[in-house]
Amino acid sequence: MANTAKLDIDGKVLELPILEGTEGERAIDFRNLRAKTGYITYDESYANTGSCQSKVTFIDGEKGILRYRGIPIEELAEGSTFVQTAYLVIFGHLPTEAERVEFSGLLTKYQMIHEDMKFHFEGFPSSAHPMAILSAMINAAGCFIPELTKDYQPEVFEQQAARLLSQVRTLAAYAYRKSRGLPSIYPKRKYTYTENFLHMMFSEPDEDYALDPAIVDALDLIFLLHADHEQNCSTATVRMVASSRANLFASASAGVCALWGPLHGGANQAVIEMLKEIRADKDDGTKFLDKVKNRGAGAKLMGFGHRVYKNYDPRARIIKRRSDELLAKLGISDPLLDIAKTLEEAALNDPYFIERRLYPNVDFYSGIIMQAIGIPLEMFTVIFSIGRMPGWIANYKEVMEDPDSRIYRPRQVYQGPTLNHYVPLFER
Ligand code: CMC
Repeated sequence: MANTAKLDIDGKVLELPILEGTEGERAIDFRNLRAKTGYITYDESYANTGSCQSKVTFIDGEKGILRYRGIPIEELAEGSTFVQTAYLVIFGHLPTEAERVEFSGLLTKYQMIHEDMKFHFEGFPSSAHPMAILSAMINAAGCFIPELTKDYQPEVFEQQAARLLSQVRTLAAYAYRKSRGLPSIYPKRKYTYTENFLHMMFSEPDEDYALDPAIVDALDLIFLLHADHEQNCSTATVRMVASSRANLFASASAGVCALWGPLHGGANQAVIEMLKEIRADKDDGTKFLDKVKNRGAGAKLMGFGHRVYKNYDPRARIIKRRSDELLAKLGISDPLLDIAKTLEEAALNDPYFIERRLYPNVDFYSGIIMQAIGIPLEMFTVIFSIGRMPGWIANYKEVMEDPDSRIYRPRQVYQGPTLNHYVPLFER
């Protein structure tokens, strides 16, 4: 394999170094291209651009492989918890028992939000989407940590990371209860991370929510499966904001906004809405798939397709199996799951989807589990945000600890008007 690539341009031959990742991904290093030739590279939507070198997550989209810090997602889903996986993603190794205890202790220590934060919640109309509230409240929570206004301090980073990871869950539950006009519920020390979230969502001041281990495990798995996914839209956003040396909470708050859209994390909500629409239409999916293929009203099969996976998303495979198990355990028969399965089978055998290599992604079945757990539809993407927090934190840390880190600042190919002149108002 070559160590350099040659670019023949304007009668000059430029040698460009080739960079190789630990899993064999090869990239041509274009960093000096403009300085040497006057040209920039053009790659709208960055489909072919390596924007950083990262040690957090490896994906082979052709083979359907996902690993956090080298460990296959299937092994983590089987043996780990969300909190241990979060530690792995953020700090690069599975925690020892002592590290686990210390990190869990920090999560517990920081689980309460400042009482004054409650006033911030008052300002939102009841129609506000919890993702809007969550993004605003993460940024607001950062205002209660004075040292965040100083530049990155590695010695307090573990505390700040734990504080964000712990409080995102509290803020998310408060956002939900506020949107329903319900009193907020404080976290309890005796509960695990995921138990506490369910408690804050569903307990009442006069009655604790009865925790069901099957539900706790299912939600913990959903969090774990979302923990990181390399340079997706929201993580790339977090890195972009971090590169200006903005603080951790501000960067994560931007990540929530990027995640919200239906092409990214918002797809889990969109999938359930789509399945409900198909059901209301008394369609078995055939009519809907025809509409998608004919591009009717821009219809897409939500929960299908991925920029990187050209194979079955391994997270979707795990969730599909677990949703079957959970629904059986809870004795729920969800007609939407049947529609989803019929749609999946039809799409996987349809030339439109085969040619484009479109497979189910993580969002196709996650909504079914969340619905079975009792999570309201508008909270689906919030759940994704809680799960993705470790990945955002880990990527933030990488940006901050990279001695060569510079502000992210892409260029553009300008296509606007050429020089023309200001015309005073009375002459226009
Ligand atoms: N339904 C129908 N057609 C599709 C779909 C879909 N879900 N996804 C892609 N296509 C078509 C697309 O129209 C294009 O066709 P053509 O070549 O004829 O123009 C072709 O497949 C290639 O797609 P693309 O739009 O170039 O793919 P992309 O990499 O830009 O977009 C995506 C990736 C995930 C945004 C897209 O597949 C999509 O919109 N899927 C539905 C939304 C969704 O499920 N998003 C969740 C993604 S996974 C979790 C996450 O990131 O949050």
